[in-house]
Amino acid sequence: MNPLTKNLKADPGVMGPHTHEAHDSERQNNPIGVFDSGVGGLTVVSELVSQIPRERVVYFGDTAHLPYGTKSAATILALSKKNVELLLRYKVKLIIVACHSATSVGEDILRNESRVPIVGVITPGIDQACRVTKNCRIGVIGTPATIASGSYSKAIKKKKTDVEVFCQAAGLFVPFVEEGWARHKLTRSVVEEYLEPLMKHDIDTLILGCTHYPLLMPLIQKVVGANVHIIDSAYETVRCVKSFLIENRLAREIGSPDYQFIVSDDPEKFQKLGRMFLKSEIPLVKHVSC
Ligand code: DGL
Repeated sequence: MNPLTKNLKADPGVMGPHTHEAHDSERQNNPIGVFDSGVGGLTVVSELVSQIPRERVVYFGDTAHLPYGTKSAATILALSKKNVELLLRYKVKLIIVACHSATSVGEDILRNESRVPIVGVITPGIDQACRVTKNCRIGVIGTPATIASGSYSKAIKKKKTDVEVFCQAAGLFVPFVEEGWARHKLTRSVVEEYLEPLMKHDIDTLILGCTHYPLLMPLIQKVVGANVHIIDSAYETVRCVKSFLIENRLAREIGSPDYQFIVSDDPEKFQKLGRMFLKSEIPLVKHVSC
């Protein structure tokens, strides 16, 4: 049984009244909403495209307020609530909080207040990490906000009490990736600097706890070595969403997909930078004021 589905079903607040209003076929046809502070959440959209290509998607990048990863928990939560409100206007059937910083500080609160299921990017990665670790020593890297929230350590220890968790904030990874330096020699030094302390703890599993880090995957794997299992949270999250949609008869079965991209600032910049994360062109980006 998909652990995410179990959580969602067990919590009446998650499957609130709205999800029961419409008929199955109408709900199946409604889009999946995704939000992030900016372009990073496109790593999740890229997984949606490859794992559940029939789905319609509305993506909101809150580019007017990025980065989230250096902001306080209260600010990130307030912005996240607005993002959920905005996506609900598009009649989404489910919302993925693609941003780890937003998931860290607000997933439960957003879920309790939402009338559609809310899926964060933390639990699916944790579940996979707990399944694959052999020596029960798991490393986590994320933004300063994600690591400061303690969300990963708390959730991992709750799931598997005998696991040791080692966390490292890697604040420079986001700007380096956005600069297009995923394979640059300077980035390699930065990766080594951040990961060395984790490697000293003999971790055998490393969770990429930020939207941007899948782009650094080849470099990170080189630095940590082939024996460390790297968990891509975007991939794991979409795997869970796929099972959830199927189990709840919410998966879209007919029709061609469509993707809408909305930002709160500078659509052109999003379009340019977004290519790198989505691994394809973004035809149209709309601006909304918020
Ligand atoms: N999306 C953020 C996250 O996954 C990274 C970028 C930011 O700091 O806004 O935490």
